Amino acid sequence: MSDDKALPSREDTLALMREYTASESLRKHMLAVEGAMRAYAQKFGEDEERWGITGLIHDFDYERFPNDAHSPTEEHPSEGVRVLRSKGYPEDILQAILGHAQYTNAPRESKMAKTLFAVDELTGLITATALVRPTKSVHEVDAKSVRKKMKDKAFARGVNREDVINGANELGVDLDEHIAFVIGAMQARSADLGLAGSYSADRFFEISRVGRAEGSSTAASSLTRCEPRA
Ligand SMILES: [Fe+2]
Repeated sequence: MSDDKALPSREDTLALMREYTASESLRKHMLAVEGAMRAYAQKFGEDEERWGITGLIHDFDYERFPNDAHSPTEEHPSEGVRVLRSKGYPEDILQAILGHAQYTNAPRESKMAKTLFAVDELTGLITATALVRPTKSVHEVDAKSVRKKMKDKAFARGVNREDVINGANELGVDLDEHIAFVIGAMQARSADLGLAGSYSADRFFEISRVGRAEGSSTAASSLTRCEPRA
């Protein structure tokens, strides 16, 4: 279900997200969720732009209004939804954003809302799994390695495993297939997420440049110190 309000552009949505969010990792999280939402919209034959914008903006208020008390009506995501409503964002997008935070008690009725919930925590787990690889590459992550990290309670404690499992169930997808699908979506935009590892063109350049100067054995260790691209 969607309403009649015009969909804001990706450009405006990205600008709003950046205005509210200084944290590079939180920005990348929203870009990762956007990628997963776009991929699922394509798979389900849904409105890719709409689903992408929902993912891109879903946590934009988190930094300003973190909501440690998990208030259902104040701070994230309720405050952000009020801001978005005042800017004319369609109601189905707002409902999906409310629904991704369990404590708002907003029902997840649309497929878009269910998908946002299903991919949100999972992208965090995939990112954390990639970042413990020596190359920090999402191209070296597969569903099996993510499942293994899921079982390790000390790993990425902030990621709610139950949400990952319940999200896949609600969406009606097999958990392993779901994990593999979201990994694929993140691999497709790995450079934007700072998770391209040695697969990005500029990192290949970095290898050859450092390799020529210092010998190839030090290239790999230099590579792991490269800052992720913004
Ligand atoms: Fe999120």
